[in-house]
Amino acid sequence: MSINIAIDGPAGAGKSTIAKAAAKKFGFIYVDTGALYRSIAYYAINHGADTKNAEQVIAMLNDITPELKYINGVQHVFVNGEDVSNKIRTPEVSMGASNVSAIPAVRDFLFELQRRIARENNVVMDGRDIGTVVLPDAELKIYLTASAEERARRRHVELIEKGENVSFEEVLADVNQRDYNDMHREIAPLKQAEDAVLCDTTEVDLQGAIDMLCGIIEDKTGAKPRGN
Ligand code: DC
Repeated sequence: MSINIAIDGPAGAGKSTIAKAAAKKFGFIYVDTGALYRSIAYYAINHGADTKNAEQVIAMLNDITPELKYINGVQHVFVNGEDVSNKIRTPEVSMGASNVSAIPAVRDFLFELQRRIARENNVVMDGRDIGTVVLPDAELKIYLTASAEERARRRHVELIEKGENVSFEEVLADVNQRDYNDMHREIAPLKQAEDAVLCDTTEVDLQGAIDMLCGIIEDKTGAKPRGN
């Protein structure tokens, strides 16, 4: 039997960095489900579809074979055999992923793939609906969050470091908008599962957050860090 750990939370809470580090520590596979939504958006955009147009996106689903492969422990996303791992990280694809993720048929399409990976492997799986919809029986569910101001502050620092000229207020408005979209969409909205452990990283740094998550995993699942 595989051990499944579900991690959900809003954009910018550091989920992927923290989940990836914890997965590595316990020798689990880290599954970034957002990459699957991004891969559908990538294909749709490249084939001339409007990602907001459900009919156009649904018509393409049968032509898309998304796959997750692990190369040296790192997740790669393939679409019809092409490694798109880097190409799906553009602002255009981010917006497209947000659009296609609101289409119920897209969520159904990706559901079985996510379930199968979790059935066959020990996973730390991160997303928005993992504890609530995809893996309701996960051994451990975590809701990882931080205040909107803190998430905006971290994102602002990253953008300034990249040389982008953007104000804190703009970043905060964007964070608030994305939270609203994720939490208010009709299907599989972001919310804390009733049995999820709340992890608030507002007051802790990255290493502190990783240690917090690893401590909870060890306590609640009995998994042991590799090498100990
Ligand atoms: O985590 P991310 O930014 O890569 O996610 C991309 C989009 O996909 C985001 O708008 C939310 C959506 N998503 C989702 O609806 N359900 C998931 N399990 C993961 C991501």
